[in-house]
Amino acid sequence: MPEIIAETARLILRTEAPGDVDRWMEVMNTPAVTHHLGGVQERHQVEAKFARNAAGIAKDGYGFWYLQTKVDGLMIGHCGMSPIDVVAAGPVLNTGIQIGWSIAESHWRRGYAIEAAIAVIELAFDRFGKEEVFAQTSDANRASWAMMEKLGMERAAEFDYVDPNYPPEENPTIIYRLKRNDWPA
Ligand SMILES: CC(C)(COP(=O)(O)OP(=O)(O)OC[C@H]1O[C@@H](n2cnc3c(N)ncnc32)[C@H](O)[C@@H]1OP(=O)(O)O)[C@@H](O)C(=O)NCCC(=O)NCCS
Repeated sequence: MPEIIAETARLILRTEAPGDVDRWMEVMNTPAVTHHLGGVQERHQVEAKFARNAAGIAKDGYGFWYLQTKVDGLMIGHCGMSPIDVVAAGPVLNTGIQIGWSIAESHWRRGYAIEAAIAVIELAFDRFGKEEVFAQTSDANRASWAMMEKLGMERAAEFDYVDPNYPPEENPTIIYRLKRNDWPA
């Protein structure tokens, strides 16, 4: 049974439920959603990603949670927090926490990502006691960095780095940061 981690006005943030991989393959593993994230994956890669995420949640208590709409019970993406764990990111980021998000294209621009991200930031600061969170994206991913700015995150260009796992058009990885004391809630 999935565990409910948080609720917002329109969303339930929960751990994995039966059928999530199938739904992910259908609505998340698409060229549009994965455009800046390395492209679509084989099912075994998605299953491995789900397994790594579940292992992270079992170990740390947090990870990426699946987003289920209250109105129709559909899983429409994920949002969460995780260790950065990229060698090229350097020591500060690698001891920090990132927040991140992806939403099914059918549900873009309806405020779901912001709604979920606010819940995750509150979990990071209030439940998990983090002093700051980072977020990573690329210049090319305008939707994602615009969201970071809308959340009140500050650009932290001193932590930008080149990620060899991504092509030139998605590099460098650009970094935003939010400190607990700067979070209005
Ligand atoms: C980034 C993403 C999660 C945004 O999801 P969303 O639910 O559409 O976002 P919201 O509706 O909550 O929008 C919040 C804010 O983000 C920004 N934003 C979202 N989509 C945008 C776009 N296409 N262009 C510019 N800004 C955008 C805006 O500031 C927006 O606020 P506004 O609507 O008041 O202008 C979504 O585009 C997505 O899943 N992209 C593919 C996966 C991905 O790249 N994830 C990020 C990895 S770093």
